[in-house]
Amino acid sequence: MPAKELSPAPDPAPAARARSRVLAALLAAGGGPVSGADLAGRLGISRTALWKHIESLRRDGWPVEGRPHHGYTLDPGAARELAARRFVPELLEARRLGSRLGHTVHWYPEVGSTNDVARRLAEGGAPEGTVVVAGRQVAGRGRLRRFWWSPPGGLWMSLVLRPTLPPERLPLLTLAVATAVAEAVELLAGRPVAVKWPNDVLVDDRKIAGILLETVTHPHGAEYVVAGIGVNLDVQGEPVPEELADRITWLGREAPQPVTVNDVAETILQRLEARYLQLHGEGGEPVLAAWRSRAAWLGEPVRIVLPGGEVEGIALDVAADGSLVVEQAGGTRRRILAGDVQRLRPLGGTPEAGSR
Ligand code: BTN
Repeated sequence: MPAKELSPAPDPAPAARARSRVLAALLAAGGGPVSGADLAGRLGISRTALWKHIESLRRDGWPVEGRPHHGYTLDPGAARELAARRFVPELLEARRLGSRLGHTVHWYPEVGSTNDVARRLAEGGAPEGTVVVAGRQVAGRGRLRRFWWSPPGGLWMSLVLRPTLPPERLPLLTLAVATAVAEAVELLAGRPVAVKWPNDVLVDDRKIAGILLETVTHPHGAEYVVAGIGVNLDVQGEPVPEELADRITWLGREAPQPVTVNDVAETILQRLEARYLQLHGEGGEPVLAAWRSRAAWLGEPVRIVLPGGEVEGIALDVAADGSLVVEQAGGTRRRILAGDVQRLRPLGGTPEAGSR
């Protein structure tokens, strides 16, 4: 079944959009002056409204200077300096202005789980592409109801999606998000990044990012999906829990240059928008091919821990419905829809312990 056409990219609330557009114009000027009269005219707002947006940016730490008859200027290094110290939601909004994902960003210093916040926003009618980011999560959730360690310094982000995919293509959304996150991490880390079924993102077999999709359905598909993405970026703030120490890694350790939370969020949103539109417009094959091309452990012996037991066999492929195809002893093939995959050491070694 083909996907229904997606609606045009949503417009954020006018006031938020105008402030982001002011910032976007100042950043685009590369430190040169921007005339207040021109800018107000371009944005269709009064000079007083423009002045209020400039004041609000200054209150948030943006060093915008204004000189009579000259215009407003913003030091081009300001964005990088601010983003090096903290996540800057308005910078992400300014960079994602006019795009489908990331036009509206809600930031909180601390939440239980960003997925819960995004869910409440979705229930209240938040448009597709609304993003929630938190400085830390105290009740972060992983797959299979696991606790997700979310200390300050990481990217803890959830997005509201309103896909118009036919029901049979919906499971591929998980693979599309995992592929996009892996692509983004690879761009920033400059190192090969793998995906492990269904949606773990690994560098050298250590988990660097995880994804949790929560879908609210109606009879013909998804009403909305909350896509939760956690990326280990910096773990300076808190000691790494012992049980995770040799199983996870973080971008701050893998990337050759400093990477900010803003960089990671922006790069993920760019890649995710591309894969999301592709899944709607071109069907599942390109996403499946991209996922397979970086899949860890295909062709290898694995054990899959299921809610009611275990399956062992060779992980053969991922099917068009997103399930994992496993060949058991004797040649029987099984499709696994949900479970936890562990690599089996080929020569009788012990399997890896459960994933993060
Ligand atoms: C997993 O690999 O088990 C999935 C981890 C998903 C973690 C992210 S962090 C942002 C969002 N909020 C949550 O509570 N979980 C997801």
